[in-house]
Amino acid sequence: MTAPPTIELDSVTVGYDRRVVCRDVSLRIAEGSFTVFIGPNGCGKSTLLRTIARVLRPSGGRVAVAGRDVRGYRRRQYARTVGLLPQGIEAPAGMTVTDLVLRGRHPHRSTLSRWTAQDERAVTAALAATGTTDLGDRVLAELSGGQRQRAWLAMLLAQDTPILLLDEPTTYLDIAHQYEVLDLLADLHAGGRTVVAVLHDLNQAARYATDLVVLRDGQVTTTGRPSAVLTPDLVADVFGLRCRIVPDPVTGTPAVFPESSRPHPTGPVVVPGG
Ligand SMILES: Nc1ncnc2c1ncn2[C@@H]1O[C@H](COP(=O)(O)OP(=O)(O)OP(=O)(O)O)[C@@H](O)[C@H]1O
Ligand SMILES: [Mg+2]
Repeated sequence: MTAPPTIELDSVTVGYDRRVVCRDVSLRIAEGSFTVFIGPNGCGKSTLLRTIARVLRPSGGRVAVAGRDVRGYRRRQYARTVGLLPQGIEAPAGMTVTDLVLRGRHPHRSTLSRWTAQDERAVTAALAATGTTDLGDRVLAELSGGQRQRAWLAMLLAQDTPILLLDEPTTYLDIAHQYEVLDLLADLHAGGRTVVAVLHDLNQAARYATDLVVLRDGQVTTTGRPSAVLTPDLVADVFGLRCRIVPDPVTGTPAVFPESSRPHPTGPVVVPGG
């Protein structure tokens, strides 16, 4: 990492009530990086992301963003700096997609001000970028899981923060929409944003991340470039999965294929043109 860290965790201990999930975690996330957290279910990925987003307060240690302790930010100022797309969120009953996306603009408005042309532009652009323009008047509760996920993403885009935190942004999306969202994040990253996402698909993580952060049991076990980090030993160690790693035929980045002890049910399969 050459860029200065924009997110720094120093000996952070955090959890829920008296249950500690992450103990003494230190981590640097470079400004302008596309950082992806990977790790098994329950290892603390969301907990760490929520800690960076100030949703959870560490019981020990310190989180700094842009060189400042996050406790020193005012609420609205923090919401203009760091945006979070949480995992598994519910919208208030009856809320439409446009209502939700407008919420993303709240940190940019003073309490009494009217909507500005900039707010309108940001909302229109966020709807367009996520392919939700035609869903604007629809009630969130009546959308498919994937449509709803894209509406939440539009809200995050409308918030227009230099740092974006996304907890499993591709959940519920079909394969084309998954790559659409990842490409959108890559564009935001290319435009200078710092993107921090949790992804379960290791091949997608390897394709899009500049940096991987591997978590296990509430600890950061490894960080680095995907090509250096993703090895069969790491996957076996962290996920308990035997695999082969080959270059992704499209991008050359590491692609993970689980070893299988079972033959295909119809016998050996030959891929046409493979
Ligand atoms: N609200 C909560 N109250 C109490 N414990 C929680 C809460 N949320 C998560 N935990 C616990 O904290 C641990 C870490 O959870 P976390 O949600 O950070 O995992 P994760 O790595 O994001 O997993 P997943 O891949 O399943 O999303 C788990 O043991 C979980 O049971
Ligand atoms: Mg999670």
